[in-house]
Amino acid sequence: MAARVRPFGAADLAACLAIGNAVDPAHPVSLADARRRDELWATERYHLVRFVADVAGEASNAGDAGRRIVGWGQIAHAPWQFHPRKYDLRLEVDPAHRQRGVGSQLFQQLLDALLARDALLVRAVATESDAASSGFLTRRGFREIWRTLESRLDVDAFDPVPFAGAAERVERQGVTITTLAAELARDPDVLREVYDLHVVCNRSQQEIDPVTPPPFEAFAANEVDGPRAILEAWFLARDARAGHCFVGLSTLERLTGTADTAKGVADTADTAAVEGVEGMAGVLEAGYTAVHPAYRGRGIALALKRRTIAYARDHGYRFIETNSNAGNEPMLRINAALGFQPRPARISFERRLA
Ligand SMILES: CC(C)(COP(=O)(O)OP(=O)(O)OC[C@H]1O[C@@H](n2cnc3c(N)ncnc32)[C@H](O)[C@@H]1OP(=O)(O)O)[C@@H](O)C(=O)NCCC(=O)NCCS
Repeated sequence: MAARVRPFGAADLAACLAIGNAVDPAHPVSLADARRRDELWATERYHLVRFVADVAGEASNAGDAGRRIVGWGQIAHAPWQFHPRKYDLRLEVDPAHRQRGVGSQLFQQLLDALLARDALLVRAVATESDAASSGFLTRRGFREIWRTLESRLDVDAFDPVPFAGAAERVERQGVTITTLAAELARDPDVLREVYDLHVVCNRSQQEIDPVTPPPFEAFAANEVDGPRAILEAWFLARDARAGHCFVGLSTLERLTGTADTAKGVADTADTAAVEGVEGMAGVLEAGYTAVHPAYRGRGIALALKRRTIAYARDHGYRFIETNSNAGNEPMLRINAALGFQPRPARISFERRLA
């Protein structure tokens, strides 16, 4: 049965999310989190357009009655590295409906939308272990430009002994470690200072394009008020000798889609994906770790990371997952020393259109 491609409607979100969670069961997202992210999308600044592919003759999962969504795709500006003519592409087909032309149909629709917008280039990400998806992109003119290395720490197996002096080492330099929860309780206006640290660190960060830090309100809504944030696990380094200014941070985040998205994935009849999602309940993700450029090379990142591991252990989490740019040698060295084990990388691909 041929698929039909049509514009996305809000009622389609649950079905698209279930496909996304089946495609990437290691990073499940809840429906509430996905809805919130859509609501927070700054439509006046950033373009975003989605399409779904549905088929008749199968159990309906959303949108039009009598049809089943089997794939979806979008093109969007990248707020993190904004350029008005550069776009990110996402394209996901239910694993049970691949190799039938659904991905190609959606891709053509997205490509037409990009050309209509006079896009300069488009980027997409595929997992190193998924040769079919990388091949799909390279056969359509994409080439690899960047790698993000994912790794995972088994919290129970972590040996703290070699790092016992990490906190004392930074304390001797006048640097103490606190949490965002404690700082906000002391002074709610402290968030501005934390934001300023983010911006300074973002600007010195190695990325495909220069990082465009979000406005303060978007930072607060996305990073602090959202369901992923754990303010007690948001560690900050403060320099007492420099007027208690913030000089480093390392955060942990929740995966939002554990129990409730397992239900959504079950709807795709992919039991392996359901097990994957349920198995993620004991996992935390490392959010952002960064040290002010003037404070690098002093052991501050290591001391902060140590605190995140202690938090995970004390709260019964089994694993911490982290992502680092393949070119970020200092971060990769710290993670390797702490015992993070490599997982399949995420490969960024790019196709030039103009
Ligand atoms: C990449 C992805 C979207 C492709 O979806 P898909 O529906 O399998 O794509 P298609 O069926 O259109 O194309 C896959 C291949 O099957 C071929 N094919 C299409 N119809 C077919 C049929 N009836 N019989 C056999 N092969 C067929 C296509 O020609 C294509 O091969 P080609 O690349 O050499 O042209 C899918 O693998 C996916 O969801 N991957 C995970 C997410 C991801 O990594 N996305 C890519 C980055 S955004």
